[in-house]
Amino acid sequence: MDLGLDGWRVLVTGATSGVGRAIASELVVEGAEVVGAARTEGGEMPEGLRDRVYEDVVADGAEQRIVDAAVASLGGLDAIVCAAGRGLHGSLESASEELWREGLELNLLSVARLLRLSVPHLRERGGRALVLTALTGTEPRPDHIVSNTAKAGAAALAKTVSREVAADGILVNCLAPGRLLSWQVRRNFPTEEERAAFAEQHIPVGRFGEPAEAAPFAALLVSPRNTYVTGQTLHVDGGMSHGP
Ligand SMILES: NC(=O)c1ccc[n+]([C@@H]2O[C@H](COP(=O)([O-])OP(=O)(O)OC[C@H]3O[C@@H](n4cnc5c(N)ncnc54)[C@H](OP(=O)(O)O)[C@@H]3O)[C@@H](O)[C@H]2O)c1
Repeated sequence: MDLGLDGWRVLVTGATSGVGRAIASELVVEGAEVVGAARTEGGEMPEGLRDRVYEDVVADGAEQRIVDAAVASLGGLDAIVCAAGRGLHGSLESASEELWREGLELNLLSVARLLRLSVPHLRERGGRALVLTALTGTEPRPDHIVSNTAKAGAAALAKTVSREVAADGILVNCLAPGRLLSWQVRRNFPTEEERAAFAEQHIPVGRFGEPAEAAPFAALLVSPRNTYVTGQTLHVDGGMSHGP
């Protein structure tokens, strides 16, 4: 299937690792012009990117610098993929004020700012936005109150924005992983035995996924080939979610 991504100008955050990196790579293979963004200077991004931007999205003004750099490099913006984010350990009683601020900044507020700053550019040709949320936003993971809450907020944010911009031809969706074997998931489940035990109990397909298994769906959702799907969440979770 030709996704029509040839020359489609896309900004991908979280492009040095895991799901964001896999999506950036897929988009490049499909012919898109991609600017990757991440925090750690020198972090490895896929080959073939138009440009790389290194900013900590939690820092003041970072989202503006990221979007400005992408627009300057690409001459505009047709799509944005917000993949920078992470799970944070903590319960109602143990999560500190600082953890709440950090988790909400990274997983929710930075996404709101990136969407706000991108939309005027996406409007030019009727663009696409994709937000990486999480299964844990709807089916809370124990001891992860901050990221569970932030990801639920990010899904509500994307749904709301999808309605605000639909008349401009902009489509906004979420992709919600269950357990894809990125750096942070490997850190939480370091051994094959732990992963097998968890998968046997919680993942109907019986294994953790690979980040690359999410990438084709992300590419379709942010492509011009997607013309009618907006305000939706696609679960990439091997059947883990309990909802329909
Ligand atoms: N993997 C899963 O199963 C899973 C499950 C649920 C949700 N998700 C969501 O999917 C997205 C990707 O997750 P992943 O597991 O693939 O993560 P990952 O491998 O840990 O990669 C995270 C990416 O985000 C960037 N990032 C993190 N903090 C940042 C900051 N403060 N400023 C700028 N960039 C930052 C990282 O850049 P640096 O390396 O430079 O820090 C890296 O490129 C996240 O939003 C995550 O919450 C993933």
